[in-house]
Amino acid sequence: MKFLLLCCALLVHANVMADEPLPWAEVTHELGEIDALPAGRLSKRALESLNQTGKALFSAHFTPADGAGRPNATQAIIPTKTRRTREHVLLRTAGPDATACASCHNQPVLGGASDFVTNVFVSEGFTQADFDSIDPQFSNERGSNHLMGAGLIELLAREMSRDLAAIRTDALVRARDTQNDVRLELTTKGVSFGFISASAEGLVDLNEVSGVDDDLTVRPFSQKGVMTSLRQFTVNAMNHHHGMQAEERFGLHVTGTDDFDGDGYANELTPGDVSALVAWQAMLEPPVQEVPNDEAWIAAALRGKSAMENFGCTGCHKESLPLESLDFFDPGPLDVVGTLSSSSVEEPAIYDLSLTFWADQLTRNEDGHVLVPLFGDLKRHQMTDHKNEALGNEKLSQRFVDRTRFMTAELWGVGSTSPYGHRNDYVALRDIILAHGGDAKVSKDAFAAANDSTQLDVVAFLKTLVILP
Ligand code: HEC
Ligand code: HEC
Repeated sequence: MKFLLLCCALLVHANVMADEPLPWAEVTHELGEIDALPAGRLSKRALESLNQTGKALFSAHFTPADGAGRPNATQAIIPTKTRRTREHVLLRTAGPDATACASCHNQPVLGGASDFVTNVFVSEGFTQADFDSIDPQFSNERGSNHLMGAGLIELLAREMSRDLAAIRTDALVRARDTQNDVRLELTTKGVSFGFISASAEGLVDLNEVSGVDDDLTVRPFSQKGVMTSLRQFTVNAMNHHHGMQAEERFGLHVTGTDDFDGDGYANELTPGDVSALVAWQAMLEPPVQEVPNDEAWIAAALRGKSAMENFGCTGCHKESLPLESLDFFDPGPLDVVGTLSSSSVEEPAIYDLSLTFWADQLTRNEDGHVLVPLFGDLKRHQMTDHKNEALGNEKLSQRFVDRTRFMTAELWGVGSTSPYGHRNDYVALRDIILAHGGDAKVSKDAFAAANDSTQLDVVAFLKTLVILP
């Protein structure tokens, strides 16, 4: 009798839950939770709920029943078929190389960085997509960096791109009006990206542009500075690391099939899933400068900070850049086909970052602009010279950027994210500083010539730039 009752109860329960996976099923329950794309200005409550879903998706270990794995698709950011069906579900080199975003972004908190062991082998993935060797002829090996404050970084890049585009328009208009060649400096937020020239006939000359792509879009993500937005990066990373394809890039309307990777699962990530992940990343609190409770350290850090100014480190690692607005539009204004953009949706969502618990802690300048304390310039620089090839280990160019150029690493959080450098293979701060060459040579030489205690002062300062646990 008891047995019968239990059976009935189970049947009833199973019936109610007909479409719902069982709570213990090996699936990610939060997938598809956001069924409509968020639109307009979100209330604090709506933001918090989206954030919760994003966090769950970032932490989830995706399973085959979610559509993880990509037997017939490569890691390429443009949908590309493999030549043969892949043998392995997970492959350390060509990927999929992990089951969760959180597997690599967790030091010292979720969304943080990671150790050398989580390095990623970045390749374009069009040919030789299935490499099984770490030989640099196949891929560029990169260390996992942190995502703290990523929303502020993307907002800065959007405003900088807007400013540079305005300078281009200005040059063209002035050249037309004066019927003379016009040459203008491409400066935004105190960072110079060289010069642009326009001719009376309406041609632009980009030969003197430096540190940014020719379309003058500042791409703040990846250590190469080649990815535009958290949205684009998330769609890339989901395919590369987990074999989870976003509908907005791999869906029927783009590839002619809703199961591009041939694993039997259609539309693995809805636009709403991607939005939740973006919202969570965009709202991650920025790292802080935390002065330790130690008189000697406080004094050393102060000396170290001014030494960095004297050495010229802050020419690239700028203490802060001013940000006009904390309204984070998603989808954003700068993405192109393959990633949703503001112009491809009816109404983008606005995540007001001033609603976060951390926004009030940021300083503002006299214009009311938020000073984002990134210690960076979102610009690419030449990092090697003929005497110093230390950071020139990569053999492949990525997105047509010279293999020896990298975007200035933002130093906020550096006190919590050892090891260092784009390959995460410098274990001590002094060693990565001494590895700088090229555009940073003069500054590195000044550091190298300083005495031991001044060098340690710089380390003392860098160690105050932390991610709070
Ligand atoms: C196997 C480790 C690994 C996994 C898993 C992983 N990442 Fe990353 N992530 C990296 C590495 C390495 C980089 C640096 C890439 C580069 O510089 O080219 C990075 C960079 C990023 C960046 C750019 C940060 C910046 O400031 O440049 C974002 C955003 C990001 N990851 C999001 C994600 C998301 C979202 C997921 C899950 C879908 C994810 N990552 C999964 C290793 C990983
Ligand atoms: C010309 C611009 C430039 C100058 C000047 C410069 N840096 Fe850098 N810095 C970079 C770039 C680019 C990177 C990323 C290098 C890489 O990993 O490929 C970097 C990386 C770093 C890192 C590693 C960050 C991490 O998370 O891995 C530290 C620390 C650092 N710089 C400190 C300094 C100090 C101290 C000075 C002055 C002695 C200095 N830098 C001068 C551009 C510069």
